[in-house]
Amino acid sequence: MNTSASISSVEDPTHLTSVSSLFHRPEEFCSFIIFGASGDLTKRKLIPALYNLAYDGLLPDGFQVFGFAVTPMDDDTFRVSMEEGVKSSKEAKPFDKRIWDAFAKGLHYVTADFLAPEGYQNLLARLKVVEEAAQAPPNRLFYLATSPSFYSDIVKCLGQNGLTSKKATGEGWTRIIIEKPFGHDLGSAQELNASIHEVVNEEQIYRIDHYLGKENVQNIMAFRFSNSIIEPIWNRRYIDHVQITAAETLGVEHRGGYYDNAGCLRDMFQNHLLQLLAIICMEPPVRYAGSSVRDRKADVLRAIVPINPENLSDMAVRGQYGPGIVDGANVPGYRHEENVNPNSNTETYAALKLYVDNWRWADVPFYIRSGKRMPAKVTEIVIQFKRVPHLFFSLGAGDQVDPNVIIMRLAPAEGITLRFGAKVPGPEMRLRQVQMDFSYSDAFQVQPATAYETLLLDAMIGDATLFNRADQVEVAWALLEPLLEIWTATKSYQPFPNYSAGTWGPAAADALLTRDGRAWRNQMVTNMTSGAPQTTVRVDHGGEPVGARRLSHDKAKMEQQSDKT
Ligand code: BG6
Repeated sequence: MNTSASISSVEDPTHLTSVSSLFHRPEEFCSFIIFGASGDLTKRKLIPALYNLAYDGLLPDGFQVFGFAVTPMDDDTFRVSMEEGVKSSKEAKPFDKRIWDAFAKGLHYVTADFLAPEGYQNLLARLKVVEEAAQAPPNRLFYLATSPSFYSDIVKCLGQNGLTSKKATGEGWTRIIIEKPFGHDLGSAQELNASIHEVVNEEQIYRIDHYLGKENVQNIMAFRFSNSIIEPIWNRRYIDHVQITAAETLGVEHRGGYYDNAGCLRDMFQNHLLQLLAIICMEPPVRYAGSSVRDRKADVLRAIVPINPENLSDMAVRGQYGPGIVDGANVPGYRHEENVNPNSNTETYAALKLYVDNWRWADVPFYIRSGKRMPAKVTEIVIQFKRVPHLFFSLGAGDQVDPNVIIMRLAPAEGITLRFGAKVPGPEMRLRQVQMDFSYSDAFQVQPATAYETLLLDAMIGDATLFNRADQVEVAWALLEPLLEIWTATKSYQPFPNYSAGTWGPAAADALLTRDGRAWRNQMVTNMTSGAPQTTVRVDHGGEPVGARRLSHDKAKMEQQSDKT
């Protein structure tokens, strides 16, 4: 129904055919030590990301990787397992045996208990061997990919066994990348921060949020602050509301044990989604560098209006999926997933309405939702602009005058869409919604770097701009704390499951917007309430009810005016 116009890079795209032209190769030697290296993350994400960097010639000379985990393995077994990971990864560059062999020579494995000093002493001895061979200072980048319950102890053991320095840069630096979740609530996040700060300084801590490494998340700042036509309209005067959606078709896979203790708020909102909100709302930083960018993002998080427990049903909705159909296959309900309590009341879906109380954003609602087992993998930010104040065209049936929308897509394909009204060709003045599309892969003709590639390289270089700071993490927890408390306290009263797998979540989540005369932008909308048949309908942003209501209002107004003339 929509007419599309695509956008390509204005520059000759061929001069960007290699991603490596965009990055600086780290100059300093370093060792990369992964705690929890026998786990899924290392094989699926970290090693393929490092291989991609090796492929593009972006690893420092002599780069070494040490896996550290309880599962017994020797170096060769670790190498074979990691090779399988690279070969089966959809995100890895083509497998090149020569590049792999050179990279794999630097892969080592230490079998050890996370709490016993022997393993750390063994690691230290092996690190010294490679550092001496490289005639390089002990620059060490640690990555904590274990269960979060070990974070504090591992950092303590690193300190006690002489593996760390207090330097974030310069010869002999130590940096520690810490996977999410960082804490389980505000108190535990504060404790974790305090205990890590006993060993290293804040500048040495890289709290990773892989969303911040996504190409189109970094592009939000480029889009807003390098285009003079965008920033003047990026405020409450022109923007009606913002929607942030992170919908997944996946369930909890093999992570039921973790997820059942976490839930959607902790898993997606405390980190990824509040970070997206912060980047959408932040004021321009003075420069694109660590503290400047992070200060402006922290300002936004501090300006979010606290969730009011008295007003909860107007601001928050939770859901849990029951059995249903996803991608044409029957899937079990959440309570029947592996390692999930059969009576679990953990939410697999959440939707919030938030406000950012400052001059730029006062009164603009931000509707944010995320859920497992939805009909499609969609991660996007929708900026919905206000309607024009007065529409003087005479509209026929089927004509559309929806307000402008900018959609920033992170998945399925990264890009940006702008929707606007246009004249339908022909002798009459008729209007229709059309769109201009920018797609990363078409415009630049390169495969975007994966988030982990970008972030690992940044950590090697010592650039923490795209990592979370202690204060940001704590403010985010503080914001969600009242909701987490209430949802935990009232768990047993939940009528879960309250949406079928393969639908867009509980009906109450729709009501969150319809009450305000708005609707979620759903790419593929199924007849969504639990158990309803799977008919698929395409709808436009803003939903017909609002558009249609306003349209008939406009038409009636025009008819009245023409009656008078
Ligand atoms: C992770 C969550 O941080 O992000 C997962 O723990 C979720 O539950 C994932 O599936 C989503 O990431 P992406 O990049 O696929 O949107």
